[in-house]
Amino acid sequence: MARQRVVCGKATNKEVTVEEHPTGVEPTANQSSVRPQELAQYIGQSEMLETLRIALQAAQQRSDPMEHLLLHGPPGLGKTTLAHVVAVEMGTQLHQASGPALTKASDLVGTLTKMQAGDVLFIDEIHRLPAAVEEYLYPAMEDYKIDFTLDAGMHARMVTYQLKPFTLIGATTRAGLLTAALRSRFGLVNHLRFYDEKELVEILHRAADRLGLPSMTKNARQAIARRSRGTPRVTLRLLRRVRDLAQVRFGGSISELVVEEALALERIDELGLDELDRRYLKTLNEVYAGGPVGVEAMAATMGDDAGTLQDLVEPYLLQVGFLARTRQGRQLTPTGQAYLQGDSQPAKTHPQQVRA
Ligand code: ADE
Repeated sequence: MARQRVVCGKATNKEVTVEEHPTGVEPTANQSSVRPQELAQYIGQSEMLETLRIALQAAQQRSDPMEHLLLHGPPGLGKTTLAHVVAVEMGTQLHQASGPALTKASDLVGTLTKMQAGDVLFIDEIHRLPAAVEEYLYPAMEDYKIDFTLDAGMHARMVTYQLKPFTLIGATTRAGLLTAALRSRFGLVNHLRFYDEKELVEILHRAADRLGLPSMTKNARQAIARRSRGTPRVTLRLLRRVRDLAQVRFGGSISELVVEEALALERIDELGLDELDRRYLKTLNEVYAGGPVGVEAMAATMGDDAGTLQDLVEPYLLQVGFLARTRQGRQLTPTGQAYLQGDSQPAKTHPQQVRA
């Protein structure tokens, strides 16, 4: 399999600059060093992986790029990781950009014209692309063509540039904010769901191997997984906190006790909820009598950003059944109420049980 090269787009006030680094040789304990490189290493999201496997194989058999792929779901569930995996599986290069960093159509030209056949362009937070940039992408996605203006003033003329066939992977935490026109141009649309405890335990197993933590017990893995809010990014962050504490205070061995202590220091409770989650639930209960209330009002009261609440707090509270979203706004459920009253293990709170 060809070695993958990653090209990252960064916002500047002129053009998108590129940064390159080979995957697999990045620094140690960050998420990328434990990130799966190939589809076979990817744990969870089995229904989606099956669709992806078929699309990849079909594209390879036809010597075509894979169809454009839209990935949506809460943050931390592996959208970026999947983009890396697709590029590795196709044996092509990944070019990374982010919706808000692409402020004008010309920010895309350099990257689009540089891409080779089959390369993958990953646009994170694609729902935040300005309308002009989004519209510029349509002919690129459909016919691999872009227009640009040469010269200026009365000599200005429009030329059409033929791009090499490529795959666009768009990622969004807010599929609802995408225009129908953009959404309809993706041949593959997939939702990433929260992971169950068993999948997170497996991810921990793999990460512990890669990080050289053979002493971690099964109970310790389960304790971390249980408190990871169904999210691998959280799992790996907690693992790093646990590893630090184990190294500094416990001679490196990771037992369930070390996990309990590390997570208590992080103020993460038995269900994986942190300060922000608890503050959200308390505000909803105490200031708004359990709701219904709009997210903007909640954000204003809490002094937080509504987007942060929508992306980072609400999805998991909805998942565990503490929160309901109604036409009138957000509402605390009886289960959420029970949690606030100190009964932190109501029947419906386990992610595996909530997930159908
Ligand atoms: N590391 C982070 N997410 C992962 C996943 N879904 N599979 C395997 N390893 C991972």
